[in-house]
Amino acid sequence: MTLATAAARHTRRWQLGVVQETAEPGVIDLGPGYLEPALLPVELLRDAQAAALAEFGAAALAYGSNAGAAPLREALAERTARADGHPCSPENVLVTSGSSQSLYLIATALASPGDAVLVDDLCYDLAQKLFTDCRLTLRRVPADALGTSPEGLREALRGLRREGVRPAFLYLNPTFHNPTGRTLPTLRRRELLAVAADHGLLVVEDDAYAGLALDPAVEPPPSLAALSGHRGVLRLGTFSKTLAPGLRLGWLLGDPELVDRLASHGLFVSGGSLNHVASLAAAVMIASGDYDRHVAFLREQLRSRRDALAEGLRAVDRPEPVRFRLPSGGYFLWLEPAVGRPEAELLRAAAQAGVRIAAGSRFGPGGAHSFRLAFSFNSPERLATAAERLAAAWRALPHPSVPHPSTSQLPTGAERVRD
Ligand SMILES: Cc1ncc(COP(=O)(O)O)c(C=O)c1O
Repeated sequence: MTLATAAARHTRRWQLGVVQETAEPGVIDLGPGYLEPALLPVELLRDAQAAALAEFGAAALAYGSNAGAAPLREALAERTARADGHPCSPENVLVTSGSSQSLYLIATALASPGDAVLVDDLCYDLAQKLFTDCRLTLRRVPADALGTSPEGLREALRGLRREGVRPAFLYLNPTFHNPTGRTLPTLRRRELLAVAADHGLLVVEDDAYAGLALDPAVEPPPSLAALSGHRGVLRLGTFSKTLAPGLRLGWLLGDPELVDRLASHGLFVSGGSLNHVASLAAAVMIASGDYDRHVAFLREQLRSRRDALAEGLRAVDRPEPVRFRLPSGGYFLWLEPAVGRPEAELLRAAAQAGVRIAAGSRFGPGGAHSFRLAFSFNSPERLATAAERLAAAWRALPHPSVPHPSTSQLPTGAERVRD
């Protein structure tokens, strides 16, 4: 089946009340970090669920083992050890119902209301919401050209100590970051881990996009968990970005003692493994090789989408350049119009041209002159059209009088720079 036929079969049910969010008809939606419907592997998952039920029978329908079914924990540990070149065992793995749930667990079981979470200057907006909904306060750590600043982290920790506020953990999304697409280099990872270790600070590494490197020759640097041997780091994985968010399936990697402590939470003791049937289906897909084949396919698809969007955006260069860095993985391209205009004006012009994009200010005050464009949710053709529409809409705006306020080091669209 071609992607176009797959998409046609899905669209009938792609509506509010069934899915979380939809755009107006005719709008090209670069807003949410979703996969295009045609990229969601309906047949593959239907077969995997059937195979899991055939193989595990009634055990698939029982309360699952609290920390997650052994076949999935074993598979995830084995894959992690192979990727990291560092031992990882099933005792390091806790199966969750996605990274949002892992974050909620951490924010409630390992932090108390009033504690602070240290977050990047620009940070996944819904993690921020989740933390503040758990009554934690956000403390931003500034970034420099290489990303999260170790000196900035030290300074933020000193500030919290002066104020008598307990830092619960540092939340990082170091690989193919949402929203900026950037990846922290290895040295910077080590420096941040050293600061965290000096202060006994737990690091939560949200690795939602780590499996989605888009350039075959460029693999991301070692994870914070690998660099620390899991000590002081909880690393979160999810199948939302590589398979399907509707599965609600993820995992958390950590020191066995901490994993055990989290798995003894009433949530698991009462309900057993979160999402047991889906976890067995994922284990079947990993064992058969279907999962790896699917991720390879997805990486190719995302690469052609990223490239189509980037090519199109270069046209926005005239007469006002835009700046962006070609992300080497994940779903997002971070765009900075090089001439300062109010965010609302650019958003409005984009919306009038039938393109939805995410306002940078959602991710932190420092993002107010930038935009996050997701290339995951549309075909390359539609992405090219979206870029043309944006170019035309922004070109037609009256000439601005405001110089660009940003001190960004992003290159203009004409230059291709990779993280
Ligand atoms: C950085 C990051 N973490 C977590 C999530 C949510 O993941 P899940 O669907 O596993 O809850 C997302 C989804 O957008 C994300 O971008």
